[in-house]
Amino acid sequence: MAKGHSKTIFLCQQCGAESPKWLGRCPSCQEWNSFIEALPHPFPEGGAKPIWGGGTPQKLLNLAIDEAQRLTLSWEELNRVLGGGIVPGSVVLLSGDPGIGKSTLLLQMTSLAAKEERRVLYVSGEESLPQIKLRADRLGLGGDNLYLLSETDVEVLLERAEELAPSLIAVDSIQAVYLEPIASPAGSINQVRECTQRLVRWAKGRNVPCFIAGHVTKEGTVAGPKALEHIVDVVLYLEGEPSGSLRLLRSVKNRFGSTNEVGVFEMGHNGLAEVPNPSLALLAERAKGGIGSAIVPTMEGTRPLLVEIQALTNPTPFGLPRRIANGLDYNRLLMISAVLSQRVGLPLAHQDVMVSAVGGLKVSEPAADLTLALAIASSLHQVAVSPDLVALGEVGLSGELRTVRQGERRISEAAKLGFSRCLLPRSMALRTSSSTGMELLGVTTLAEALKQALG
Ligand code: TYD
Ligand code: MG
Repeated sequence: MAKGHSKTIFLCQQCGAESPKWLGRCPSCQEWNSFIEALPHPFPEGGAKPIWGGGTPQKLLNLAIDEAQRLTLSWEELNRVLGGGIVPGSVVLLSGDPGIGKSTLLLQMTSLAAKEERRVLYVSGEESLPQIKLRADRLGLGGDNLYLLSETDVEVLLERAEELAPSLIAVDSIQAVYLEPIASPAGSINQVRECTQRLVRWAKGRNVPCFIAGHVTKEGTVAGPKALEHIVDVVLYLEGEPSGSLRLLRSVKNRFGSTNEVGVFEMGHNGLAEVPNPSLALLAERAKGGIGSAIVPTMEGTRPLLVEIQALTNPTPFGLPRRIANGLDYNRLLMISAVLSQRVGLPLAHQDVMVSAVGGLKVSEPAADLTLALAIASSLHQVAVSPDLVALGEVGLSGELRTVRQGERRISEAAKLGFSRCLLPRSMALRTSSSTGMELLGVTTLAEALKQALG
């Protein structure tokens, strides 16, 4: 591959790990057969130049940052996930499975930005202009300032961007674009990395924010966006059940804000729409009074969200009981099952236990422990949890219940959605004001809590 160069290196196509020798398995990400030969410095001209630099030391006190420089869109969900708007010169990687809605989100976002009297450039390397136009028409998008470009050569697209001088640019997708001097196919780790670096350098140099779409894939020939996370400023994941309509926009890295925030969208006929009341949407299909179902007010970042947790217990057909967790932490499930067996005396040793957080949400905080236990016990005893009850609290190994943070906010969110009783650790109940109008059922142990809720 590297004719004319005496030395080559080997790069993992999945995670970008380097090695001087070919390896059958990547020691960093454990992927098999992912190494390919590559040039050590595939983009010599300016490739090694730092993005920042060339200044003198400045006093921290004298530096002024204008928060108002952040570009805010009318999509509050997106603003919040980004930490309060788009920072000029920032590079945002939007990744997600193919078909989840990345192109749709980028096109709608650029159209929103173009409405604010700003020139915006949307570059697609995957679709032709008529195709994008069709999609835009279907989504009812317009905007006098939205410019479209179908281009795959990064140097050419940046030249066009230079001419247009937009105040925001979106590139869809990083796997479809390439840089001429690099002797590997578009989508390979080399290309994806160098193209991203080129876009980052441009964005920083012009102080223009740049959004980049990237597919998450396990295939060997296409490099996963994992390899890009350290190059960009913000990494967003668009997630959701492909069959469902709910889409969660989650930030996993953000140099300008918190990474706990989640934006909730719904994919419909007109593309993505913000979900103003996600708790309501998440509980929409709940069978009230269903067996093995319980509700927890979780916190996603700064926002409370009501999530239904379901459990199903079933006698184990073979020797070893199975535990399956969907959207919940597997180890947490093992722990709660053990506490239920040992401290409450629930006969789970010969039961398969399956649990799931409804709506494609991932609930990993300990505050959901009590609800998880409640759902499992409800399934095992075949007794439904009252539909007006939410539960909340961390479960300790001795079966005691512990306080969780942000109790009042969680409880008032539950009250807003019509729940009237909350089962929680007694210490929390004593400290929480009754202004929420919720009846607070304070309990000290898991056994007591199950007795309260299931009789
Ligand atoms: P797309 O944005 O092309 O996904 P990605 O760029 O992440 O690969 O989204 C494609 C999916 O979204 C496709 O399955 C159809 C669905 N969709 C809608 O349901 N409604 C719409 O208005 C649009 C534009 C797409
Ligand atoms: Mg796409």
